[in-house]
Formats: sequence, C-alpha cells, structure tokens
Amino acid sequence: MTDGPGTALSRRRALALSVGFGAALWTSGRIGPAAAQGGPAPLLSRPIPRSGEALPVIGLGTAYVFDVGDDATQRDARAAVIRTLLAGGGTLVDTAPSYGRAEALVGEILAAGGSRSGVFLATKLEEYDRTSGPAALAASLRQLRTDRVDLMQLHNVSDLRQDLAMMREWKAQGRCRYIGITTTYRGAFDVAEAVLRREKPDFLQIDYSLDDREAEGRLIPAAAEVGAAVLTALPFGRNRLFRAVQGRPLPDWAAAFDAHSWGQFFLKYLLGNPAVTAVIPGTGNPEHMQDNLGAGRGRLPDAAERRRMVDFIGSLG
Ligand SMILES: NC(=O)c1ccc[n+]([C@@H]2O[C@H](COP(=O)([O-])OP(=O)(O)OC[C@H]3O[C@@H](n4cnc5c(N)ncnc54)[C@H](OP(=O)(O)O)[C@@H]3O)[C@@H](O)[C@H]2O)c1
Repeated sequence: MTDGPGTALSRRRALALSVGFGAALWTSGRIGPAAAQGGPAPLLSRPIPRSGEALPVIGLGTAYVFDVGDDATQRDARAAVIRTLLAGGGTLVDTAPSYGRAEALVGEILAAGGSRSGVFLATKLEEYDRTSGPAALAASLRQLRTDRVDLMQLHNVSDLRQDLAMMREWKAQGRCRYIGITTTYRGAFDVAEAVLRREKPDFLQIDYSLDDREAEGRLIPAAAEVGAAVLTALPFGRNRLFRAVQGRPLPDWAAAFDAHSWGQFFLKYLLGNPAVTAVIPGTGNPEHMQDNLGAGRGRLPDAAERRRMVDFIGSLG
C-alpha cells in the first residue's frame, strides 16, 4: 500500500526521515486550526461507558499487517508502529489468535519495549466453548506475555443464544478487564444485536467506514443503548477507500475539521459519530500510524460536514 493521493503525507515522510518521528512531524505540511494555536492538539479520548475510563480514540489493528515472519526489517517496522502509537498518546492495540503470527509479535514487541503497562490490549476468543476456552485464554496470555488482557472479545459472534458467562468469569478472575463481541458479517448483524441487547457486553467491535455505514443503522445505536463502547473494525474497508480516492486531492473543506490526509478524512468521519469510542485502523507502517493519530486531534466533523463527506464519497461512483 502506498501513501495514496495527497502530498501532505509525503512531506511528512521526508521530514520523518530526517528528524525521526515525533512532535516535529506536526510542524510539517499544512497546519490546521488546532495546531495553529501552538503545537499539536492533544489526542482525544472518550470514556468507556461501563467504567468511565478514558480511551484514546485512535488505536491500532493488527490483522494481516502484523502477520509477518522472521524478517527483521518487517518486525522492526511493526515495533516502530507501536512506538509511534504510544508516543502519540495512543494505547489501544487490537489483535487475535487467528491473525497468524500477529498476536505473538505484539507480545514480543511489548515485552521488548517494556510497554505492556501503557497499552490497552485487546484480543479475541475464536470459539466459545467451555472445554477449550480456558486453554485458548491461556494461549493468548502466553503469546501476549501478560497475565491479563484489557479486553477479551468473542470473535465473530454467530449464535443467537450465545451467552458470555465464561468470559464474565474471566473478568471476575482478573484475566481480562472488559469483555466484548465482534462481527463484520452482514448476515450476523441480527445475532450481534440480540446478543448485545441480552448480554450487554462492555464492547462491540463492528465494521464501519465512510462507504460502509450499515452499522450506523441499528448496531451502533443498540451499543449506545446498552452502554457498550464501540470499536470500528475495517475503518478503511481494508484499502477500498484509498483506492476510491486515488489521484484525487483532498477537498479544501476538510481543513475545517483538521483533516490533512485521506486517512484522517476517513477516520474523522467515524469519530464524528459520538457513539464510536475508538477506531482501530490496521497498519504496518509507522508513518501511516503517525498519520492516523492525526485523526484524533483537533476538530471533528459535525453532522452537516459528515453528510457532505457521505455525499462526496457517494459521488465518486
Ligand atoms: N471480525 C472482526 O473482529 C474483525 C474483522 C476485520 C478487522 N478487524 C479489526 O479491524 C482492524 C482494522 O482492519 P484492517 O486492518 O483489516 O483494515 P483497515 O484498517 O480498514 O485498512 C488497513 C489498510 O489500510 C492501510 N493504511 C492504514 N493507514 C493508512 C494511512 N494512513 N494511509 C494509507 N494507507 C493506510 C494499511 O496499509 P499499511 O500497512 O501500508 O499502512 C492496510 O493495508 C484489524 O486489524 C482488526 O484488528 C476485526
């Protein structure tokens, strides 16, 4: 994946190469209303409804992009992604045992950097089964080199009668601090809504992007009703949104809500929905991580601006 269209990111890359990642990045490129007041604006946080604990709105997804082998360059780049997330004020890292070598690499990077305590670590349970569940939990904790995760999510909920009692027990035992469910399958949205309303997990993770707004209809409002935090999977529709705007300049009006790259434009649309707690774009590229963090700073689009964003993406055909 290249940076896609737009030159702001390329300018940032040039500066990053010369001075390293950090606050200096934010003096490059166009400076928005927030940054113009002096230095980068702080990364926004939102409360986890169940506890009030503040969660920075920009997180990191690790599917595919962290499933790398022994190549030192690739592994170093993922370590730099996590360092960039943390240096920028982010904490949330989402992984899963089914993401190949990603879960183990996250564990290795956090252990090597001594950064476990600064991370809100989310992973998933692949199969809800009383017999195999405890071993699956133990395996994830081992891979992640920790004795508890912050969030344990039932991956791809699919059974209308699903209970979450086993995960609640893990929470009571201190093996996880929050529990959640995930889905990115249209056919399972009814199931996810039923389980959400009945079991009232602490988190819902669902696919939601500027060009895929199905979750806005019922699932995200249902999460808000039951007091579940919302994490948005696939915020770029993998690379679908970047492909849709390939070769196009960012509209001038995006600067009014401090979006200075397409990545920030796409993520700010999601964060403009107050029911969204955090977005978890996936990246294996520290410059993209830095770019994505910019979406959590400054103004967010209001309802009229969000409608304009939807019209814009719809007009691309
Ligand atoms: N059922 C579930 O629970 C479920 C399902 C799917 C996904 N998820 C979660 O959602 C996370 C996000 O999904 P995803 O990673 O598949 O898709 P995504 O976040 O929509 O898109 C990731 C792609 O965008 C690129 N990218 C990231 N930031 C960019 C930037 N600023 N500029 C240009 N390109 C950028 C990445 O390439 P680079 O590496 O080159 O940056 C990567 O190819 C996953 O990692 C996972 O944690 C959960």
